[in-house]
Amino acid sequence: MPANRFEVVNLPGGKQMPLNEKAKLPSSGIDFVNAIKPRLELLPPGRVLDIGAGYYGIIGSAFAQLGWEVTLLEKNPDACEHLQQSFPYKCRVLNEDIRTTTIPDSYFDCIVSNPAQMPAQSDDEQWDHDVAGMSGFDMMEYVIHSAHQALTEDGILLILVFGFHLTAVKECAQEQGLILKNQYRMLKRCSANGHILSSLKRLRQLYLAFNWDDVSDKHVLPTSIVELSRGERQNA
Ligand SMILES: C[S@@+](CC[C@H](N)C(=O)[O-])C[C@H]1O[C@@H](n2cnc3c(N)ncnc32)[C@H](O)[C@@H]1O
Repeated sequence: MPANRFEVVNLPGGKQMPLNEKAKLPSSGIDFVNAIKPRLELLPPGRVLDIGAGYYGIIGSAFAQLGWEVTLLEKNPDACEHLQQSFPYKCRVLNEDIRTTTIPDSYFDCIVSNPAQMPAQSDDEQWDHDVAGMSGFDMMEYVIHSAHQALTEDGILLILVFGFHLTAVKECAQEQGLILKNQYRMLKRCSANGHILSSLKRLRQLYLAFNWDDVSDKHVLPTSIVELSRGERQNA
């Protein structure tokens, strides 16, 4: 059903964007901004890259509001068109896929990402809004790989990680020479018909070491924003 043309979404900084009929405002983006707010307020404005910005560039908008120069990278052309037309701050929109794009070296003071991180159920569903390969880890890996080159010397990567990927993220970051600086913990709400609950069976099979006890009953999933900074690359 088309969205009412007067419907809007409220961005974290108070500005509004028209609702796009194809996408509601994802709660995880808002949770991300709330979790990093105290940290963000301590950072001097610089250049930020939001990878997988979606239809509303929510995370990027929290930086834009504080005077950061914002680049929004998103592979979905529809979402990029919506951003180009309606993002209420000055920004650069890149309709690119993080797997194939080239990001300038030592350019961004901060990279943020709420990546797609659900595992695909079948070969033909490998890359979707929320899906990133058969393990769900593929986009995360590309984001972490990009960060070491693209961050300035003091730059930081802030990435949202579902609990079942946490160990792999820490290992991947270490391999790339990124240092774990902080971890902001939160609980993600899983809607009853949401992707997480529908994929629980498969996730349980994939991530045997993760403690799933609370997830289905309480409809929450331990989630963290992980803050990484540059260090020496181990395999350099
Ligand atoms: C979980 S949504 C996050 C949207 C928004 N940043 C937020 O926090 O609400 C993940 C976004 O990543 C995008 N995405 C998925 N795979 C991508 C890729 N390979 N390169 C760039 N963006 C990708 C999806 O289209 C989707 O908009």
